[in-house]
Amino acid sequence: MSGKDKFWQAIGDYAARPIATLVAEDETRLESLAIDQSGLRFDFTKTHLDAEIVDRFVALADAMDLDGARKALFAGDIVNASEGRAAEHTAERGEGHPDSVAHARALHARMRALVDAIEAGALGEIRHIIHIGIGGSALGPRLVIDALSREADRYTSAIVSNVDGIALEDAIDRFDPRYTLIAVASKTFTTTETMLNAASALSWLQQAGVEDPHGRFIAMTANPDSALEWGIDETRILPFSETVGGRYSLWSSIGFPIALVLGWGMFEEMLEGAAEMDRHFRLADWPDSAPALAAFVDCYYAQVRQAPTRAVFAYDERLRLLPDYLQQLEMESNGKSATADGERLTRASAPITWGGVGTDAQHAVFQLLHQGSHLVPVEFVAAIEGGDGLDLAHHAMLLANCFAQGAALMDGRSAADDPARDYAGDRPSITLLLDDVSPRILGALLAFYEHRTFVNATLLGINPFDQFGVELGKDIAREMGRDDARLDPSTAVLMRLARLDGFV
Ligand code: F6P
Repeated sequence: MSGKDKFWQAIGDYAARPIATLVAEDETRLESLAIDQSGLRFDFTKTHLDAEIVDRFVALADAMDLDGARKALFAGDIVNASEGRAAEHTAERGEGHPDSVAHARALHARMRALVDAIEAGALGEIRHIIHIGIGGSALGPRLVIDALSREADRYTSAIVSNVDGIALEDAIDRFDPRYTLIAVASKTFTTTETMLNAASALSWLQQAGVEDPHGRFIAMTANPDSALEWGIDETRILPFSETVGGRYSLWSSIGFPIALVLGWGMFEEMLEGAAEMDRHFRLADWPDSAPALAAFVDCYYAQVRQAPTRAVFAYDERLRLLPDYLQQLEMESNGKSATADGERLTRASAPITWGGVGTDAQHAVFQLLHQGSHLVPVEFVAAIEGGDGLDLAHHAMLLANCFAQGAALMDGRSAADDPARDYAGDRPSITLLLDDVSPRILGALLAFYEHRTFVNATLLGINPFDQFGVELGKDIAREMGRDDARLDPSTAVLMRLARLDGFV
């Protein structure tokens, strides 16, 4: 057994007690396994964790030098070894190496100046913004704008990611080209889907006779030279640092549409909320750290009990896009079979993240959660303050349902004489209860997920900041465009049926 394995073994060997028993009998649990931080309550009480399991995870964290990894992250050291880079998303929020923080501040100032100039009419009358980007260059802005823009009527916006022309068409059908700004978000400025969508958006403006169509483009990128070459003037290029990873980039200039649509003040509040979570993560001892405890729960179910998935349900329409955002953050970061040292990972990688919105999901997928044969750790995310102006009954019913599901999963109900009506119970859940869905709290929530992903990676020995797994499909797609492409017979038939041979 390798040195690290014995710590995992110690966790696996521990006979955890049923959750309902732990909750009923351990009075300290509500203190030790619930953390109030930055306007959120992180409630881990309905899991199998107890003081002993937490201790064993802390021993694993020490063996994996989680403390050293955390220090390296905030110091701007090279934590993404395979790409030889630091991972400096926290510097965007003011927490990190002082030089990187100063650099991020200067780039934010530039972004703010552009937001102000647009508001002052420097680019003519702007009513709409189409943000073009994919993956990390779309999911963050899409989530935040969807969550927070209900009261913002400054601009109408669309986030276009898919290369399917329907996505762009849906956006341009809604907007008047004379008053539309196009923001192209791409860290590399080479992503094929984004570049094709940008070219089609340019044609749309040209065909509509818009004067100086290139002048309606903004670029947010870590590769400003390519944006310049594409035809975007230097004054409208918003750079960000190469050390900010795509799925960690909404805090950088990739967040430009957030700042434009919601206003600079709200963007800044979001950064401040994230910075508060950064400080919590940087300073708290592991048993008091919300991201660390959450990662202990994740590892306990995914790696120790081998649950293949984890499910996240937002009991709040404003957060309906959270599961989509988390899928990229968690699966692109930790869905890997090699460790950072180039060894084969000997246990499960990150589980599959999936989810939906409550209460809708109760009437669709919760049957399996309550009675299916899979172990699925569930995460509920809800807010004390509702976002609607209707009768309070709506929000009260929403929250009551959310809490009832957690209780039902834990308690179960036995019907020994009727297996169809028997609920085994002892099914774990985490509840994240937000005071409100505000920019500050949303910033803290997203930073919490980033750090939790980092802790998970460190416990497994994975580098969460590269994503080589996405390259092979891109290579083959590129090859398909060549006459000499050597396709396997199965794929060649599909190409022929779709009349794509020689076209892509
Ligand atoms: O293909 C995966 C990926 O590289 C993601 O990691 C990234 O968020 C996305 O593509 C978009 O990349 P870019 O911002 O360079 O266009």
